Amino acid sequence: MRLVFLGPPGAGKGTQAGFICERYGIPQISTGDMLRAAIAADTDLGRKAKSIMDAGDLVPDDVIIGLVKDRIAEDDCKKGFLFDGFPRTVVQADAIREAGIHIEAVVEINVPDDEIVRRLSGRFIHHASGRTYHVIFNPPKVEGRDDVTGAPLTQRDDDREEAVRRRLETFHSQTAVLSTYFGGLSAEGGGGPVFITVDGTQAIDAVKTEILTLLEGVNAAG
Ligand code: AP5
Ligand code: MG
Repeated sequence: MRLVFLGPPGAGKGTQAGFICERYGIPQISTGDMLRAAIAADTDLGRKAKSIMDAGDLVPDDVIIGLVKDRIAEDDCKKGFLFDGFPRTVVQADAIREAGIHIEAVVEINVPDDEIVRRLSGRFIHHASGRTYHVIFNPPKVEGRDDVTGAPLTQRDDDREEAVRRRLETFHSQTAVLSTYFGGLSAEGGGGPVFITVDGTQAIDAVKTEILTLLEGVNAAG
């Protein structure tokens, strides 16, 4: 299974990607998590990406495309993978096609902007794994601690309200068009990806059930 998750910041891509990757035994390829790991390791890439991410802008396409190509060449991607937060521009989407990578399904999670600001202000993450919580909607078992490792949870630097608003602008101006892009490929048929749209304002479990059910249909058809 090779999947793409589309949707605005805070739509629940990371949360749902965790469930789907576990179900299908495929790795979650989150370009945001990879960039945050580079920042934590203080690499050249991390130093370049930090100010761009904190401002809510996009890291240059060539950097991201190189990162993803290296990642999917690794052994654990042979069975498939889930792209979470990639592609984010038409140039990145074209790069997938030019590399001859066949995507079975694109899952778009829709959530309106006002709900997103509410979600991101309550988000806490386990930095090392990317596991994500919310103080109200998805609290950890022990306050402020990761369920699996017990390590302290932190907030992302780009979850400040100003950065969230800029990320939303960036999404609408550069990424939202991918809905039409993949919807069009799907409608053309000829082996294009199945395009699935999900209402991301439902409870986390309801979104999960809906995505899993729709993907079972894709699997059965393919
Ligand atoms: P990235 O890390 O990808 O951030 P994002 O797209 O802004 O998305 P988020 O991770 O903020 O949200 P999510 O959809 O994963 O939601 P989550 O599950 O956490 O990218 C960060 C930055 O890196 C970018 O701004 C850019 O600078 C750079 N970058 C990354 N990829 C790039 C690329 N391809 N090209 C260029 N630049 C790139 O959920 C959010 C919160 O809501 C959580 O607290 C969660 O618990 C809660 N929640 C989830 N679902 C529900 C629900 N159904 N009901 C209630 N609460 C819920
Ligand atoms: Mg995420």
